Amino acid sequence: MALRPYIVGNWKMNGTRAMLAEARSIDRGAARHPGVQVGIAPPFTLVHTMAEAAEAIGVGGQDCHAKASGAFTGDVAAAMLADAGAGFVIVGHSERRAMHGEADADVRAKAEAALAAGLGVIVCVGETEAQRDAGQAEAVVTGQVAGSLPQGDVAAAQLTVAYEPVWAIGTGRVPSVDDVSAMHRAIRAKLVELLGEGGADVRILYGGSVNAGNAAELLAAEDVGGALVGGASLTAESFLTIVAAAAIDGE
Ligand code: 13P
Repeated sequence: MALRPYIVGNWKMNGTRAMLAEARSIDRGAARHPGVQVGIAPPFTLVHTMAEAAEAIGVGGQDCHAKASGAFTGDVAAAMLADAGAGFVIVGHSERRAMHGEADADVRAKAEAALAAGLGVIVCVGETEAQRDAGQAEAVVTGQVAGSLPQGDVAAAQLTVAYEPVWAIGTGRVPSVDDVSAMHRAIRAKLVELLGEGGADVRILYGGSVNAGNAAELLAAEDVGGALVGGASLTAESFLTIVAAAAIDGE
């Protein structure tokens, strides 16, 4: 695949300072695979310390607010993440969509705020099991892409889309490689429709129960440009196996 593979660990609400040693191991291991872009999105509390120590990996946030500042108790602005050393932020994760009521328009506003702050942005999309069973998966996901992507001129290198079927997250269930390829093709077509030629250069990550055992097969699927990894990103051992799988695929 022509685009540099991108492997991102989403630590979700896991990790205290004791986990920084694991991040250092991941950083050292990632340095052995310069052909792969590697990132970790730890909880906000670890962003600054992790970013200070990181040499080979990027460090990111798991969410940001759409506004630059103000009376938004508990929220963090994109510019604050950048100030703490983050290089990217994940927006529109299905856990935020489901538990915090974020709609496509909210996700778009956050993505635009991230880009304005100079961060790369990973926009997450994905269907529920009921939507897939009803044959609506592609329509739902391409609709989310159309509604959630930042508007205006967007450099492809700053934008990543992560396809994460909700039913595959944390369940150990993954779609077939054919289903992943079909969805990534549909997302690619929508990206080109929305962004023109630049849409061909946006990486589309797969996420949902990626682990050391299934990563190589999923990463080899058509138009899979990397992975967004939850549970298996919490140890250097499993996460670096996934990074190495991307290196093989990318060479
Ligand atoms: P798991 O890899 O734990 O299924 O989580 C995927 C995910 O939600 C990453 O953002």
